Amino acid sequence: MPPAPPADFLPARHPWDTLWVNAHLATMTAGAASPYGAIENGAVAAKDGRIAWVGPLADLPGRAEDLAASVQDAGGAWITPGLIDCHTHLVFGGERVTEFELRLTGASYSEISRAGGGIAHTVRATRAASDDTLYTLAARRLTALMAGGVTTVEIKSGYGLDLEHELRLLRVARRLGANFPITVHTTLLGAHALPPGVNDAPGRARYLDLVCDAMIPLAAAEDLADAVDVFCEGIAFTPEETARVFDAAQAQGLAVKLHADQLSDTGGAALAARYQALSADHLEYTSDDGLDAMAAAGTVAVLLPGAFHMLRETKLPPIAGMRARGIPMAIATDCNPGTSPALSLPLMMSLACTHFRLTPEEALAGCTRHAAQALGLGASKGQLAVGFDADLALWDITRPAELAYWLGGNACVGRVAGGRLD
Ligand code: NIG
Ligand code: FE
Repeated sequence: MPPAPPADFLPARHPWDTLWVNAHLATMTAGAASPYGAIENGAVAAKDGRIAWVGPLADLPGRAEDLAASVQDAGGAWITPGLIDCHTHLVFGGERVTEFELRLTGASYSEISRAGGGIAHTVRATRAASDDTLYTLAARRLTALMAGGVTTVEIKSGYGLDLEHELRLLRVARRLGANFPITVHTTLLGAHALPPGVNDAPGRARYLDLVCDAMIPLAAAEDLADAVDVFCEGIAFTPEETARVFDAAQAQGLAVKLHADQLSDTGGAALAARYQALSADHLEYTSDDGLDAMAAAGTVAVLLPGAFHMLRETKLPPIAGMRARGIPMAIATDCNPGTSPALSLPLMMSLACTHFRLTPEEALAGCTRHAAQALGLGASKGQLAVGFDADLALWDITRPAELAYWLGGNACVGRVAGGRLD
């Protein structure tokens, strides 16, 4: 055994891996005293992928170079928690431009759906695409979301609508999560619509059997899905059918969430709450009773202003009622080819402020702390706080409200996922 080298020959030990200085922080911590939990002239440090220190630069417990192996000058940027897009349908083939043109001449989303277009159109294009094509198309969309500061994304299936293709879409989503510096949460949405060609009661019952007895157990066994979603709507599944799918999901220990009350009040929000759903999403037509149930259950309201905008919807979700009950409001792109071909989460913040009258601070909470809660990740993501994942987004803005101000463009100048810079 050679003798141990003297201590001063050992490489310097730094308590932290990376420290960002010359930054302002919008910590978005729950219950913060200042708006946005802001810390001007702040610093944030990462160790082993987690936030190890956060506070005013003046309080740093030593010299920056002694504290971190790598000191990053943020150039005066604002740093927020990495954005979380908690509702997307990112994996699909084709597009729906013809449907877009039809809607512009007056056809409604429901009419197009009932005439065999809409989701069914995308199902045909998705089934026809190879795994690699689906992966490449979704990777392009994911790259665009990431460029806008997203570090966690939820991805639903729902354009396969048979056993083979639904599981295939979830595998593509898992592959994206393995290959990109982003956290991917997957959701099985086998109950998105009836498959093309199924239009009678026995076919409907058989398809629900397939979702409940095969898709859900197999997705759970292969660890392909983190949650199960249903489109509960006149043009999709009834509340009774939704309850059956939720029972099957919970029997497998999977979380549930719901496309609820988007085009009509089907009692979806209350149903989601009855099942302790993580979130109920859309909610334009939700009643006060639905909101009461959500508040009691702690179900997050996921607002999707891209779909509202694209469908020229005029019925606003009951924002005042959500606020009055303290229901956490999240915002997501709903990226999908039919109702929201949206590739920028900051743009959704802007639409949420303009259309729904959210404050810019509510909008940022909607893409950080509340979006984390909507994915069951509230204890590890969505806030700049010690112990939380070191997922950050850096922005060239003068103050946080500017995030919800630009209509497009991209103020994101840096992105850190699990402590790693892009
Ligand atoms: O979230 N509402 C149902 N699902 C999607 C739309 C899917 C589609 O039209 O392809 C949504 O808006
Ligand atoms: Fe959706």
